[in-house]
Parts: sequence; structure tokens; C-alpha cells
Amino acid sequence: MTTATGGRADGQAGGMQPRPATLLPASPPPRPPALESRAYSFWYGPTQALHEVSFTIPRHAITALIGPSGCGKTTFLRSINRMHDLTPNARHQGDILLDGGSIFARGTDVVALRRRIGMVFQRPNPFPKSVHDNVAYGPRLNALAHPRELPDRVERALRQAVLWDEVKDRLREPGTSLSGGQQQRLCIARALANEPELLLMDEPCSALDPIATQRIEELLVELKKIYTIVIVTHNMQQAARVADYTGFFYLGHLVEFGTTQQVFTRPTDERTEAYITGRFG
Ligand SMILES: Nc1ncnc2c1ncn2[C@@H]1O[C@H](COP(=O)(O)OP(=O)(O)OP(=O)(O)O)[C@@H](O)[C@H]1O
Ligand SMILES: [Mg+2]
Repeated sequence: MTTATGGRADGQAGGMQPRPATLLPASPPPRPPALESRAYSFWYGPTQALHEVSFTIPRHAITALIGPSGCGKTTFLRSINRMHDLTPNARHQGDILLDGGSIFARGTDVVALRRRIGMVFQRPNPFPKSVHDNVAYGPRLNALAHPRELPDRVERALRQAVLWDEVKDRLREPGTSLSGGQQQRLCIARALANEPELLLMDEPCSALDPIATQRIEELLVELKKIYTIVIVTHNMQQAARVADYTGFFYLGHLVEFGTTQQVFTRPTDERTEAYITGRFG
């Protein structure tokens, strides 16, 4: 057997000595986590909304962020795709790394950053466009696909969002003509059409009925094979059902972060325990 360099794989050819172990190709360095927050603090004017939040979000998993109203969950999500850039008097300290690179690095292209991060909001917010054009919007804007390939890309995103069968004959109808649950899945499809690395969802099921909620939860479990997902939820059962990891925020602090199993069955902080058992919040 010969190697790519023409020598024998056992290194014994032509009386050659075996290669010293130090010259063997090093195994590739471990990939950084999908997202890492390093002592990230955030202020709206004089009000500090986040206090030195540090944790890492693992790849191909669902991470739930929970905590009482006003504890900073949305502020944190919006930080990740730099939606605070235009908030007057807002400032931050610390860092957030996406795939090992700071999102605040000088020269960061914010449009390109947002293409890598899909965001789904609490209320479905389809554009005033057709079902097709809602999903095609991002790829078109970002020139991600040749116009000929757009229909395939739209279909793929709608299938991933488990909406295709319900809308394949309604692609030219306005997105706003769909039901609330369908509109939310349309917004998920719109986010997926850009093939983001990270999918951020801020209470995506709060306006949905139990059946639509169940469909979205099944969808998330399916999507985590491809994407890394962060979901903010007030619904403890939902976090327990779908999330692999859970972070508990309280008054702008990340009080606890761990596997969902650990956080829900053996919380290390009494505030986490009080919250998940419904004693406050
Ligand atoms: N644009 C803003 N200007 C000033 N303060 C803000 C602004 N947005 C949020 N805040 C404050 O920052 C804190 C965190 O708010 P945030 O929306 O992040 O909380 P949350 O955990 O998402 O709450 P909820 O569960 O109600 O959505 C709150 O005290 C809120 O009043
Ligand atoms: Mg919020």
C-alpha cells in the first residue's frame, strides 16, 4: 500500500526509519462552541440589564433560556445578532463569540453576521408579501441562490419548517392569509432559507394553540440535527420537553446553566428551584 506522498504506509520503504511521532499530522483542533458569552454585560442608558453573563452554547442542541419577565432574556438574544447597535445609549462590556470569532470584532460585517443567525420572534411577523416571497426574500437579498434555484430553496425551507404540504398550492397568496401557527412556521422557514448557523427563537409558541405548539416543538427536535437552536420560553414544560440544555436568568444574571435534566431535577441554586417549582416569576 502506498501513501499520498508515495511512501509505504508503514514507513518501512527503502530502509526509511519510521517517522517520529511528532511529525505525524496533528489531529484537528476541537471546534469552538457554536456560541460563547464571555462576561457579557449590557446597559440601556444607566440601567444594567445583563451582568457578566458567561456560558457556552453547544452545537446541534437546543438550549432553553428561562427566567421571570424582565430578567434579560430578550436583551441577550438581541445582542447575539447585534440588534442593539441602533438602540440609543446602549452599551456593552465583555464579548460574544460565534464559532470562535467575536461578533464585535472591528470590521465585522453586521449584515453577514445576521445571515449566519436566524431570528424568530414571539409574534409571527410575515412580510406583506406572498408565502413564496417571504421565504425567498433572504436568499434573494443575500444573492445566496441563482434565481433558477430559488423555488427549490423555498420548497426546502418550507419542508424543513413542516409547512410545505399546507401551502404548496398557496405559494402566491399573502403570508398574512395563513393561520397564526402557519405564519410562525413561515417565519421559521424564512429564517432557515438563509441556512443560518444559529437559530434564535424568542418565545416562538406564546401566540400558538397546543397543536401548533406541538408541531413547532417536533420541528425543533428535527432541526437540531442541522442547526444549533436557542429558545426563550416561559413554558417550563416546553423547556423540559425540548431542550438539551437550560440557562436560568434572574435580574440580569445567568444564575445557572446545565443540562435540562440537571437544572430541572437537581438545581444547584435555590432561586432556580424556586422558579421552576413556580414559587415566583
Ligand atoms: N429599549 C429598552 N430601553 C430601556 N430598557 C429596556 C429596553 N428593553 C428592555 N429594557 C429593560 O431591560 C430589562 C430586560 O428586558 P428584556 O426584554 O431583556 O427581558 P425579558 O427577560 O426578555 O422579559 P420578558 O420575559 O418579559 O420578555 C428590563 O428591565 C427591561 O425593562
Ligand atoms: Mg423577552
